[in-house]
Amino acid sequence: MSSVKISKHPLVAHKLSILRNKNTKPKQVRELLNEIGQLLGYEATADLPIKETNILTSPLGEYTGVELATKIGFVVVLRSGLSFAEALHEIIPSARILHLGIFREKVSLQPVEYYNKLPSVPNVDQVIVLEPMIATGGTAIAAISILRDWGIKSKIKFVTVCASKQGIENIIENHHDVEIFVGAVDEVLDERGYIVPGLGDAGDRLYDTP
Ligand code: URA
Repeated sequence: MSSVKISKHPLVAHKLSILRNKNTKPKQVRELLNEIGQLLGYEATADLPIKETNILTSPLGEYTGVELATKIGFVVVLRSGLSFAEALHEIIPSARILHLGIFREKVSLQPVEYYNKLPSVPNVDQVIVLEPMIATGGTAIAAISILRDWGIKSKIKFVTVCASKQGIENIIENHHDVEIFVGAVDEVLDERGYIVPGLGDAGDRLYDTP
């Protein structure tokens, strides 16, 4: 079953409010996306399984060591997903970073895959897709199909800052086994496929491109 978890964390709401502001400069946009990515990342990884390892020693006594029981892959959807990759890699340094390039054709708004750096055989058990914005949901749907074809059988998670209601509905209609961790869901998607109020084009705001 698919599920959508809208963050209730006050820091996410606070930082997202600054991020939405059109006067917030690229440096701060990068920092905020990084911080929000980490906060959402904690929520998205809260149920990861762990396993016991061996008996270790603290300065005061013995304890049973534990470690993550699954190999995690962060799937970075270029280019705005790059902003999340570092943030989440800090939380799970052992995770693999996998790159997918998918852009939205400007007229049809259809996703076009232009870059795929997945190895021929999956080297991870579970993937978390990092995509700051879910607008129509087309890119997310394409990314999930690519990952399923690649061989990912487990539930696919998404970490996203801001999504449109329609985008979320489209994803759930097309893929039944996803979990979306999102900072905010906005009602309106305009005719150019932008989320309103949203925060504008995340890539342009990150990299100061026109
Ligand atoms: N991508 C963005 O960066 N912003 C939107 O509003 C929609 C898609």
